[in-house]
Amino acid sequence: MNILVIGPGAIGSLWAVKLQQDGHRVSVIARQTKSPYQVQFGEQPCSFRNHQIEDIRNADLILITVKAWQISSALSPLIHLIHPDTMLVLMHNGMGSLTSIGTLLQTHPVILATTTHGAFKPSPSRLIHTGQGETFIGAANEKGCQCQFLTDVLHHALPEVYWHHQIEHALWRKLAVNCVINPLTALHQCANGDLATPEFQGIISALITEITAVMIAENIPVSLEELTDHIHQVITATAKNHSSMHQDVFHQRKTEIDFITGHLIRTAGRHGIPVPENEALYQQIKALEKQWES
Ligand SMILES: NC(=O)c1ccc[n+]([C@@H]2O[C@H](COP(=O)([O-])OP(=O)(O)OC[C@H]3O[C@@H](n4cnc5c(N)ncnc54)[C@H](OP(=O)(O)O)[C@@H]3O)[C@@H](O)[C@H]2O)c1
Repeated sequence: MNILVIGPGAIGSLWAVKLQQDGHRVSVIARQTKSPYQVQFGEQPCSFRNHQIEDIRNADLILITVKAWQISSALSPLIHLIHPDTMLVLMHNGMGSLTSIGTLLQTHPVILATTTHGAFKPSPSRLIHTGQGETFIGAANEKGCQCQFLTDVLHHALPEVYWHHQIEHALWRKLAVNCVINPLTALHQCANGDLATPEFQGIISALITEITAVMIAENIPVSLEELTDHIHQVITATAKNHSSMHQDVFHQRKTEIDFITGHLIRTAGRHGIPVPENEALYQQIKALEKQWES
């Protein structure tokens, strides 16, 4: 297939490399450079065509791996070049980004993806696959429903990949985990595993109670007990990891809070559900971001 990756950061480069190694013609739209995009993966130097208009026009599949808040600015200059049959896969943390691609939703097959693979770029030209994970994909619109075959394509390149008939269920589960782990580890500048200590149990339990109420109002199949177990399992399984928001705050970069806790708060508001504990974390992260901006 002709595959274009928009935003070959850590996770985008991992998919670009794996799909190229699997025999696909992969090119990229990278921000910094118009020359070929090169990245070292282990012993393997990988090179991709970059910023070629014909690659945008001829793409069968476009993988959009920028951060949630970068989607609109990354796609807007390219929209007029993308063929209506080109499949668009949005792979990022958080929810609510579809509003920024409203027009494409009416014309193109759109697929949402969530992954637990870990990828890290210690330098602009080096890529490390830090953790094996799994990826769920599912349709965001009617045309997207016809793209189930993509599961095999992606799975062959970087397993495990599953098709989810109600992808929003998988996205909400990931959102719930992120709403707890990301802001807490960012504000306390700690590893995920530190959230298992007694001092965090009160706040974690209060956050999960609020999140569960919102998910139930959204008709997501979940219970307080099951979600609590799931989130604690993730904390244990990723104990040594530093969350993306922890890293963003450390480097004083804009975070994805508006698409994580922000999405929860907006949804809670629509249902009239109070979420004061999540709101407090949201405000603290926004205050930090404002501080850096000024
Ligand atoms: N890394 C992981 O292990 C992982 C795992 C699961 C989910 N995720 C999620 O995946 C998403 C991407 O994460 P990431 O870690 O890969 O972040 P990242 O390394 O910052 O990758 C984003 C890339 O998009 C590029 N970009 C931004 N705007 C662009 C534009 N207008 N045109 C072209 N490229 C543009 C960035 O370029 P610059 O470098 O110039 O900013 C960067 O290379 C996030 O939502 C993250 O939460 C990541």
